[in-house]
Amino acid sequence: MSVIAQVHTLVPRHAHSVPAPQVVHADAAKLRVAGISKRYGDSFALRESNLDIQTGEFVTLLGPSGSGKTTLLMMIAGLVTPTAGDIWIDGRAATRQQPYERDVGMMFQSYALFPHMTVGENIAFPLKMKGASKESIRKAVNEVLEQIKLPSLRNRFPGELSGGQQQRVALARSIVHRPSVVLMDEPLAALDKSLRTHMQLEIRQLQQALGITVLYVTHDQEEAMTMSDRICLMNEARIEQVAAPAELYFSPRSVFAAGFLGESNTLEGVIESIEGETALVRHADTVLRGRLMNDACVGARCRLMVRPEALTVSDGPWVALGNVIDAHVTSQVIGGALARTVMRARTGVEVVATRLTARSGARPQGDVRVSFAEEDSLVFGEAS
Ligand SMILES: Nc1ncnc2c1ncn2[C@@H]1O[C@H](COP(=O)(O)OP(=O)(O)OP(=O)(O)O)[C@@H](O)[C@H]1O
Ligand SMILES: [Mg+2]
Repeated sequence: MSVIAQVHTLVPRHAHSVPAPQVVHADAAKLRVAGISKRYGDSFALRESNLDIQTGEFVTLLGPSGSGKTTLLMMIAGLVTPTAGDIWIDGRAATRQQPYERDVGMMFQSYALFPHMTVGENIAFPLKMKGASKESIRKAVNEVLEQIKLPSLRNRFPGELSGGQQQRVALARSIVHRPSVVLMDEPLAALDKSLRTHMQLEIRQLQQALGITVLYVTHDQEEAMTMSDRICLMNEARIEQVAAPAELYFSPRSVFAAGFLGESNTLEGVIESIEGETALVRHADTVLRGRLMNDACVGARCRLMVRPEALTVSDGPWVALGNVIDAHVTSQVIGGALARTVMRARTGVEVVATRLTARSGARPQGDVRVSFAEEDSLVFGEAS
């Protein structure tokens, strides 16, 4: 689809010809996705999924390539037809609405500006298509240009802007008509790292200041952690977990979630007993305690996962925390703010610990004892 065709589908050509959508419940979620799925031939791009987004929330779809993020976003925009399920925007049934009838704004990585229009004309475009008056368009464009801090560039053409400025104009165009929900698919992926970091903050500040509801897509976990109120983690055409960034990091509900976000050490073992929410795991000749994260039974094979920053390494006799494994240091690297100690556990597994670097910090050498607390140790049992 050409860029022009894409934009045309998003805004009504004749606003008065659009029938008023049925309002079902006024206090519903800003955006509700219920039982939605998409199948191409025999394979699912998205399996049955549910998601509610509240007014003013910034929710990010995060997941590996091919996990269904764009498919979900395009179904909400109305550019892909769902195989099953329903979409509600502002309490109105949107599933059968045309894209231009849905109250959404869009910003994509490849969603280029119209090269033959000035910045001002590009931003005005959605309002023009809605049939807004000249005066209200002028006012809205001025206001949004102030908000994105580019009032002086109003008469430039996109070819005369930097990549970051172009994306800011695309952002302005996606919010100028005050849509209920703004959908963004990897809008910063083409920018270099420092500009990306800057734009992340800018988008987040603008979203919070204006109280805009955003559904954002990225496969960059840092971007998702920095920007989001909640992250919707996706894998293999399913939603794995929806949670605030800290909850997803500290209480992942699956091995995939624990492994995808941040780094984890994995120790394999067998669940020897369960005491309330604590699992006792036999790993070679040691027993380690951890939080049981799923419905596994005694006797099940399991993985115990613990973050590198939760490990304390000591080359003396003392241990700081409940669980202990013996290991041997194989290498030490200072990677900037963090120092990494790589070790081989006596049981054969490689274990990595990180800590903040310090100019005078003593570095553990040779044979060491690695300890970690039960609450930092997550146990995922295999289904029997
Ligand atoms: N038009 C299509 N026809 C057939 N299969 C498709 C089509 N569009 C997407 N798919 C498949 O659906 C799956 C999900 O694709 P989707 O574009 O949603 O992934 P994504 O999470 O956005 O990935 P990425 O991070 O690479 O953008 C992929 O396996 C993809 O090949
Ligand atoms: Mg995608």
